[in-house]
Amino acid sequence: MKCRKCGAKASVNMHQHKLALCKEHYLEWVPEQTERFIKKYQMFKRGDRILVAVSGGKDSLSLWDILVRLGYQVDGLYIGLGIDEGIGYSSESHRLAEKFANENNLNLHIVDIEKEYSQPIPVLAEISHRGHGKPCAVCGLTKRHVMNRIARDLGYDVLATGHNLDDEAAVLFGNTLSWSGEYLLRQGPVLPSTDGLARKVKPLCRFYEREMTAYALLRGIEYIYEECPFAEGSTSIYYKELLNKLETDRPGSKLTFYLRFLEARQSGLFVEHNVAADGDLPTYLHPCPNCGQPTSAPGLCSFCRLMEKVKAESNAL
Ligand code: AMP
Ligand code: FES
Ligand code: ZN
Ligand code: ZN
Repeated sequence: MKCRKCGAKASVNMHQHKLALCKEHYLEWVPEQTERFIKKYQMFKRGDRILVAVSGGKDSLSLWDILVRLGYQVDGLYIGLGIDEGIGYSSESHRLAEKFANENNLNLHIVDIEKEYSQPIPVLAEISHRGHGKPCAVCGLTKRHVMNRIARDLGYDVLATGHNLDDEAAVLFGNTLSWSGEYLLRQGPVLPSTDGLARKVKPLCRFYEREMTAYALLRGIEYIYEECPFAEGSTSIYYKELLNKLETDRPGSKLTFYLRFLEARQSGLFVEHNVAADGDLPTYLHPCPNCGQPTSAPGLCSFCRLMEKVKAESNAL
């Protein structure tokens, strides 16, 4: 297989795009495509202050690398979850996020959950009794809260995450199976800013996971290969496997599934019934009286309720 641009031996062959590229041209193609998506979905402009949430994995580190190469002004945020099961998942991902920042002279904010909220994620999850013995729900809730807080408190315009096409297609598949209207409405490459919350963007949402793996490897980015030890057996991994089977038989179907959804959403298939003015919260959300982040729960948001529980437990000891 030969590179379409220069005829040299191809390093990456993308059946779904009917495109093969050599290392050099692949490493040009990925940022060019990313820039195209940033413009197409109006994610951000040059001069915006961008915060990229980095987990130490291939997607978010590659995203940081790409945005820097494209000349954007972008800092990183690493959230230390305190998950030291398995290979020491959190300490290893922390090390790799820091290594990348140091080697590239970039600014990385670090939030250690245990230091700031008195307990690591697995203990917070136990205290909350949510998630049937798995910490993933509490972990997701906490990460979202911290990302929003840091982006707002430090005055970033945009919060970027490394979600790729495989992630987005799996979430979409789940939301479609249950026809979760509210979630379908909010799933997309951009979540506009509301009431003091930075806008959220996913610049890698059109890249297949294997394309990001190829980018990280060819760029020589050292990243954590292991998944979080609690991810095993999760529904999202199961959906990813199903979609991969489909993709093997019909190359391109994952991308089509996602892109057709975006088109349908754009054309108004999912209509917001609680329409809000630009920048305001939809009427089913209100700011949490404690932290100010939007919530649909009556009274405090789920994160602040979790913190109340943690406080009550430690007072009881
Ligand atoms: P995940 O939910 O683990 O699939 O991660 C999705 C995205 O969330 C990643 O691409 C990162 O941008 C961000 N993220 C996940 N874990 C962390 C973390 N510990 N610290 C900062 N950002 C994270
Ligand atoms: Fe949060 Fe696994 S439980 S990353
Ligand atoms: Zn080439
Ligand atoms: Zn709150």
